[in-house]
Amino acid sequence: MIGAIVSEDQDFHQTLDRMLGDGAGRFRFEARIGEPFTQISDTHLDALRAVDPDVIVVDLEADPQVGIKFAQYLMEAGLARAVVAAGPTDSPDLILQAMQAGVTEYLPKPLADTKVRESMDRVWRKTGKRTSQDPAEGDKGRTYCVFSAKGGSGSTTFAVNLAVELHRLTRKKTLLIDFDLELGETALLLGMEPKFSIADLIRNFHRVDAGLLASYIERDDSGIELLSAPIQPVDFESVDGERIAKILQFLKEHYEYIVIDAPKTLNTVTLSAFEGSDEVFILTTPDLPSIRNVSRCLPLLKGVEGHREEDWIKLVINRFSPRQLIPISEIEKTLGMKVYSTLRNDYQSTIDAINEGRPVVFDRNSIYGQDVRRLASEVTGVEVAPKKDGGLLGSLFSRKSSTS
Ligand SMILES: Nc1ncnc2c1ncn2[C@@H]1O[C@H](COP(=O)(O)OP(=O)(O)OP(=O)(O)O)[C@@H](O)[C@H]1O
Ligand SMILES: [Mg+2]
Repeated sequence: MIGAIVSEDQDFHQTLDRMLGDGAGRFRFEARIGEPFTQISDTHLDALRAVDPDVIVVDLEADPQVGIKFAQYLMEAGLARAVVAAGPTDSPDLILQAMQAGVTEYLPKPLADTKVRESMDRVWRKTGKRTSQDPAEGDKGRTYCVFSAKGGSGSTTFAVNLAVELHRLTRKKTLLIDFDLELGETALLLGMEPKFSIADLIRNFHRVDAGLLASYIERDDSGIELLSAPIQPVDFESVDGERIAKILQFLKEHYEYIVIDAPKTLNTVTLSAFEGSDEVFILTTPDLPSIRNVSRCLPLLKGVEGHREEDWIKLVINRFSPRQLIPISEIEKTLGMKVYSTLRNDYQSTIDAINEGRPVVFDRNSIYGQDVRRLASEVTGVEVAPKKDGGLLGSLFSRKSSTS
């Protein structure tokens, strides 16, 4: 189990290390924040994200009220699967508040060896052991393909943010695959510069094993892994659909969620991606050219082998606005299918995210981010905690500035 500690008190860090460091490496603290809550910044949070901890231990003692809000934020933002709070023994109110904030366990201070171990054991049992090994047999990666029939509809932005959000909500091993062999941009949106790409995997698939696969895949700070598009465009005509199908099958053995950013062209690669997916999100913007293109692609999509259920194709309206010229009912009538979900028009936060190489869903104020989160929650069945006004960091910083 991978842990993180948030405490101003150095003794607290050392005590936990001593109590849980059993030498067997079963428990490792890989991130530490020693600053007061009011000085915790995005950089600290990014460091937590990079470690992707199973549990974060938050020492409330120095500032219990802000500490509780911080613990709540950690849970809501999906920064850990469990948060354990530590604080004074003699404060039933505080314990109650901590529990209401969603903390998994409360440790009375000073820490007692047995209590700490028992509580971590409970966390371990509740959250389940997560390892870098493959999912159990039969537990094949659920695969979502994101497709849009017209350039610039927002499929790459959605694929990236969906993958990040699936992982954040479930903490499951998630792979994003950029199948746009000509002009893939997922790495750009994540601010990554991968050395290898899906082209290497396609080329060397005959000798691929888990080790070689790992070398082609890069892990992003958000916790998801990326199989990126090649920097030099690959001629998709030379790629054999059967090989793509085999690659997908192989990857499903290694991941619990796979999100594919499909190219716009209906080539062999795209069709194999459809065939290998459990669900396809077809994105359209609410304008005639885009809707018309969807209607042209739908018959082909519906004819994809291996899929009998109608609802495997999910129509998503991107850049949605309640005042849009073509209402949802009209789109549904034209395409003969229900709209599964809408993603609101949010130019500023999507463009800021591209420029910063940081997924939009990390911007808690983005309405687009909120919509992706809602959709991911529906897909996974994991509930999203309601957003508090201003967000925790906002309140921490306003508190900081008012005290400084
Ligand atoms: N909901 C939204 N609101 C406003 N702008 C958006 C939204 N979704 C995406 N965009 C913007 O639209 C542009 C195109 O997005 P994106 O690259 O994701 O589309 P695409 O379908 O992958 O395009 P391509 O045809 O290049 O593959 C980007 O500038 C992105 O920031
Ligand atoms: Mg794209």
